[in-house]
Amino acid sequence: MSDVQTIEIMQGILARHAKQEGPLLPILHSVQAEYGFIPVDVVQIIADHLNITRAEVHGVISFYHDFRDAPAGKHIIKICRAEACQSVGANALSDRALEKLGVEWGGTTANSSVTIEAVYCLGLCACGPAAMVDGKVVGRVDGAKLDKLLAEAGA
Ligand code: FES
Repeated sequence: MSDVQTIEIMQGILARHAKQEGPLLPILHSVQAEYGFIPVDVVQIIADHLNITRAEVHGVISFYHDFRDAPAGKHIIKICRAEACQSVGANALSDRALEKLGVEWGGTTANSSVTIEAVYCLGLCACGPAAMVDGKVVGRVDGAKLDKLLAEAGA
């Protein structure tokens, strides 16, 4: 994407949020909806526009799990790490997933097929450990089921 395109897109997004109080989060959500992540050049544009530092914008991006600073993989797999799921094996499941994919939380496999994210409760606590694949919840995920989900996602 060219600088000119980026500036045009950002002018549109910033104009849409011009009258909002506390516009940083809504702006970041709009940027992520547009690009699928928050591109690094856009961070400076937002900082300049809101008269805050680049570090402040970056701090908000890294605080919220929903924002990414790099494009996601083709499939997004989330594993619940909240208490009820932890009590039925979510930690071991998480370790297995990260090891198989060779990435950390939020990371994307080298073939760009899977991004793995931690999530804290998917509302499926009675059927833990729970996961979500491209927005669809999956309950009672054991090692074999996880391996199948990863294989289906092309990891
Ligand atoms: S604690 Fe995992 S779905 Fe609620």
